[in-house]
Parts: sequence; structure tokens; C-alpha cells
Amino acid sequence: MTVTDPACRTEHLPASPAGIARAAAILRAGGTAAFPTETVYGLGADATDGQAVAKIYAAKGRPQFNPLIAHTADTAQAMALGVFDAQARRLAEAFWPGPLTLIVPAAANCPVSDLARAGLPSLGLRVPDHPVAHALLTAFGRPVCAPSANRSGHVSATTAEHVLADLDGRIGAVLDGGATRVGVESTIIACLDGHPALLRAGGVPRQAIEAALGQPLRARPHGEKGAVVAPGMLASHYAPRTIVRLDATRIDRDEAALLFGPAALPGSETALAAVNLSPSGNLHEAAANLFAALRRLDQSGAAAIAVAPIPADGLGEAIRDRLARAAVRE
Ligand code: TXA
Ligand code: MG
Repeated sequence: MTVTDPACRTEHLPASPAGIARAAAILRAGGTAAFPTETVYGLGADATDGQAVAKIYAAKGRPQFNPLIAHTADTAQAMALGVFDAQARRLAEAFWPGPLTLIVPAAANCPVSDLARAGLPSLGLRVPDHPVAHALLTAFGRPVCAPSANRSGHVSATTAEHVLADLDGRIGAVLDGGATRVGVESTIIACLDGHPALLRAGGVPRQAIEAALGQPLRARPHGEKGAVVAPGMLASHYAPRTIVRLDATRIDRDEAALLFGPAALPGSETALAAVNLSPSGNLHEAAANLFAALRRLDQSGAAAIAVAPIPADGLGEAIRDRLARAAVRE
């Protein structure tokens, strides 16, 4: 098996019609192309081609048991790939295109490769809300499976530069659509047994989903140790190299500060480096800045990244989830 794209020269493509056509051609030839979505950059390959999918796992250095989300240009295409119960249909209608992934049983004739699904009978589906992603998916015409375009275990990439920092020379191309708007990954809801469950907090706040369903979401099911109940929930999934210290009430001199809101934390003026995710305390702005801030502070040489308290409502749930994972050491 070829472990990376044969060319191994990563094309940095503009998000122009020509760039999009080139990325679609690379996908058609069984290669990998990273592209922007509204959440984070995805590393795409033809979801129906197991050999193409294998290149994603190889480029990311990702454990093979972790299934991938299949992205489609529109809701009708997504619905043809899975079995949607009334609740899944309601969520698709309310939030697609948008930062929501639905896990549903795969349709009987589902063309998504076993490797992309990691052998599971279910399938993750998403219709991104981004003009470049939409144009690429439309030009390609088949489902594109795409995990976040970062090396396994690193924080997700929200710019083409961050994609290249992790994957240059390991993927066919990156389509450069600038910084992503939402900044955290999609919310993942499993609709498998009539009781929709939140598998990952993300770009659509839990409250909005519960309002659309008219019922509370179930918590993430807990599986056997090591079982892939909610895969990708590897504890250290988003870990920077630097130690991360949560809910800090003061910053030490050898630390970097990740701040939120207008209130100053004692010690932040003498910190080695500091980034405020949103000086006005806006959670949308904070989500959009999160991964770039973690990358920057990770390079500061600080002994630790001290994180100010962040509220848990709305997008705060996803932000706190990613930071909690970043704080876990392997
Ligand atoms: O916003 C996003 O969701 C981005 C953009 C590129 O779409 N994608 C993304 O993919 O975050 P990834 O692979 O980094 O995370 C997808 C998560 C993983 O935790 C994976 O295990 C889970 O979705 N997943 C995919 N299919 C699943 C399935 N059938 N059952 C349970 N979890 C699944
Ligand atoms: Mg990821």
C-alpha cells in the first residue's frame, strides 16, 4: 500500500474556480485534498474509494479504528446514504447545511467504503455550510470523507497555513479559503435508537438542538474500555505539546495565558505570552480563535498554558470540551 500521496508535493491552491476544479481532479484521481469548511479544514478523499481513504489515515497518522465523516453537497445526497428516523430528519432540516454531524445507520446500498466507516454499521454525515466546500463537493459529485486536517493528536487547523504546518508533503493539495468562521468542529449527534445522543459538543449549541427536537439530548454513551462507542473521543485528541492548566485564577511568570473576556487575570501582564480569545466575552469569537491561539501559545516556550475560566453555555460547551482534552496528558 502506498502510505502517502505519490507526488508528495502539496499544491497550495487558491479558492478560485480553477483551484476548486484542480482539487476535484485530485480527488477523482484517488488523492487527498484539504479544504475549508465553516468549522475547521477537512482532509478530503473519495469516501467510496478505500485506497484513497487509506491515504488520509496515513497522512494524519490516525488510528485506523476512528471512523470518518462523509460530507455531501446537499441534504438530499446525505439522506441517500443513511437511514434517517423522524428525529434525524428534523435535525437535518433544521441545521443543514451547517456545523452538525448526524450518526445514522448506513443505508443498505451505502457506497461509503468500509475503511471510512471503520467497519461500523453506522455512518457520520455532514453538509458543510461553506461556499468553497460546497463548490468542491458539487464538482466532485460523490461523498467526500474528511477528518480535521491536522496530524493525529494535534489541534484542528483553521487556516491553510496550519494545514501545511502539519501536513505539507503528506497530502495532494490544500484549497485556501482563509480562516474558518466557526472555529470548532461540528456537533455530533447519534440518531441510532430513537434517543438522540450528544457525542461531541461543537458548532451548534446543545440548546439549539434540544429546542429543535423538543426533548433533552442523551449524554454520550459509555462503552467498554477501548471500545469505539464514540470514537475520536481519545482523551488527548486536541493536545498541544505544552501542559494546559484550566480555570486558572492567576498566571505565573513562566506561563502563557489564554484569556477570555474583559476581566484581567492577576499575572497576565507579566506572562510569557498572552492571547485573549474574545476581549468582549463573545463565545462565537472565542471559538473561531481557539485553535490558532493554542498553536501560537504552544510555540511560546512557556512551561504551561494557563486558561482563564470560560462559561459553559452555548458554544462554551464545545470550547471547554476541547480545552479539557488539551489538558489531558497521554
Ligand atoms: O467539523 C467537523 O466535524 C470537521 C470538518 C472537517 O467536517 N471534521 C471532523 O472530523 O472534526 P474528525 O474525524 O476530526 O472527527 C469526527 C468524529 C470522530 O470523533 C469520529 O470518531 C466520529 O466523528 N465519528 C465518525 N463516524 C462515526 C460513527 N459512525 N459513529 C461514531 N462516531 C463517529
Ligand atoms: Mg479531528
